[in-house]
Amino acid sequence: MSAWAVRARSISAITAGVSPLRRIRTTGLRRCAAARNARRSTAVRGCPIITIGAFCQKRRYIIAKNRVDPLWLRRHQRDPYVRRSRVEGYRSRAAYKLLEIDARERVLRSGARVVDLGAAPGSWSQVAAARVGRQGQVIAVDLLPLQPLPGVTVVEGDFCDAAVVARVEALLGGEAVDAVLSDMAPNLSGVWDRDVAHALELAERALAFAVQHLKENGAFLVKVFQGEGVDAFRHQMGRVFELVKSLKPASSRAESREFYLLGRGVRSQLL
Ligand SMILES: C[S@@+](CC[C@H](N)C(=O)[O-])C[C@H]1O[C@@H](n2cnc3c(N)ncnc32)[C@H](O)[C@@H]1O
Repeated sequence: MSAWAVRARSISAITAGVSPLRRIRTTGLRRCAAARNARRSTAVRGCPIITIGAFCQKRRYIIAKNRVDPLWLRRHQRDPYVRRSRVEGYRSRAAYKLLEIDARERVLRSGARVVDLGAAPGSWSQVAAARVGRQGQVIAVDLLPLQPLPGVTVVEGDFCDAAVVARVEALLGGEAVDAVLSDMAPNLSGVWDRDVAHALELAERALAFAVQHLKENGAFLVKVFQGEGVDAFRHQMGRVFELVKSLKPASSRAESREFYLLGRGVRSQLL
């Protein structure tokens, strides 16, 4: 099979049902930037832009597996939130997502007990620890090691592993939690449906933990990705919480399909 045909196959795996691939003449990787810049127009050299956009996304995933994508690196270096995080001492630009959400929704408060799932490199935990103060407690969980942070207790391990959940529960000592935050995201495989399903699985684990451990007026903030199953998950959250909101902070990249669901007030029949 020719290289063109292999590429066309991988594109069609992502864009199934979007458009036929017959006019993909711009399969060269360098075309991606041009396609992105021309996103508002309907076509690039007669090719449907959505197809090329999806291909760009695929390319980013493929490259991320092996080495840093130069396009990603350039964008990262120019990103105002990345620059700001360096100046303000946050470990990643993700801090601004939580800061924005918290400024609007008041998820964190002084003295609160917070569990931060998918915490590495630690910027949400930094934000949470600063907000809850010395009287509060922040437990950060991640598969990856987290450099120590003042006011944060780190649990390293897979949150899908019962032993890891048990370690978190032991740290809570039977006390209920004010907020469960989950920014967990799987390693992207490049197969969008599979990635969305994996992300939802993590969100469901986080929800199950939140249902068990949140205070009645507690808050659950979770990252999800647009795709199949997310509406059902939101519905599921609606059965648990009095109020559910979808949030897309300005610091979450517009082209990213991630967004956050915030659930508040655990329904009394579940307590
Ligand atoms: C987007 S990053 C989180 C960024 C973090 N909120 C911050 O502000 O620095 C997603 C994290 O989820 C973690 N993760 C993914 N699956 C996980 C799992 N099963 N258990 C624990 N952590 C997981 C990843 O290791 C990754 O560090």
